[in-house]
Amino acid sequence: MGAAWSAAQAWAAQSLGLGSAAGPGAAGQVVGRHGGEEEDEEERGLAQYKDPDFHARLRKDWPEDGEQLHSGGWAMTKKLMEDVERWLEEKAIAAPDARLLDLCCGEGSTPIYYAKERGWDSVGIDISETAIAAARAAASKANVQDKATFVVGSAFKLPFQAEAFDVIYGQDPDALSLPQRPACFRDCLRTLRSGGILAFHHHWIPGPGWDESTLKQYCAESGSDEVHADQYVQDLEAAGFRVEVAESISALASSHLHGQLERMKARVANEGGVVQPWLVKTCEYIDKGHAFGVRIVARKP
Ligand SMILES: C[S@@+](CC[C@H](N)C(=O)[O-])C[C@H]1O[C@@H](n2cnc3c(N)ncnc32)[C@H](O)[C@@H]1O
Repeated sequence: MGAAWSAAQAWAAQSLGLGSAAGPGAAGQVVGRHGGEEEDEEERGLAQYKDPDFHARLRKDWPEDGEQLHSGGWAMTKKLMEDVERWLEEKAIAAPDARLLDLCCGEGSTPIYYAKERGWDSVGIDISETAIAAARAAASKANVQDKATFVVGSAFKLPFQAEAFDVIYGQDPDALSLPQRPACFRDCLRTLRSGGILAFHHHWIPGPGWDESTLKQYCAESGSDEVHADQYVQDLEAAGFRVEVAESISALASSHLHGQLERMKARVANEGGVVQPWLVKTCEYIDKGHAFGVRIVARKP
């Protein structure tokens, strides 16, 4: 694993107005390996998400409409719902009895949608208090506050009992891109029932199958950590999961990241600032045909 702070996250923080181009230490948001001061292992990299303005800024920059803060928007949410229904059928679990956890749930649109459409009980967890406040308000407004419930907490220390869930899902769950990822996978394994499923997609990491030298070159040119889809698979297997699907979502990643780049260029032209080199470089690699993003389904044996 390379530097603790990935260029991509520095990009996210900066593009959302949370930091400076010089990195997290300079922004005064995050200390640790770059800031000279030791940060709590579990807390490393989380400061940007705890900023109360994070979600307002994230929403402003996001390509999908409304409260959907993951690549692919409602189409991905519906696809995930179909997958979940298939798994529940396979396990002969009656849908209303299923317990679902949304990892890094943001403003909770998915648990609320699932509660409204299927009557599923979902818990959403997110590190951001403002996101969870928005999620709770939206659940009450939709009158599903008993079925879609929300917790402020970290994906690295899930505050749930062992075997509490049938399915854990995540849509661009940013926690997984941090080096503490193995702790999250171990905790997901603990909180899933036997045969339960962890399913997520993440759009901005190198997809499956990169060779080592290209990956190193990309990381050096873009300033990214060496976080990539095959690493996710290794970490899942080391935690005890059986990985059943690990497929590239390049077309989606490409349209999402190119969309971000165009909006960033327009904003820089209007308001000043810089177009983040990480995003430019990543779009160049996508255009050269390298796989980006991954959709993973892993099962607790
Ligand atoms: C790109 S947003 C996705 C939100 C949501 N899944 C959706 O689709 O709308 C990423 C989310 O990850 C959350 N997050 C980042 N690190 C986290 C952590 N360690 N534990 C819990 N949530 C975290 C952020 O606060 C943010 O809401």
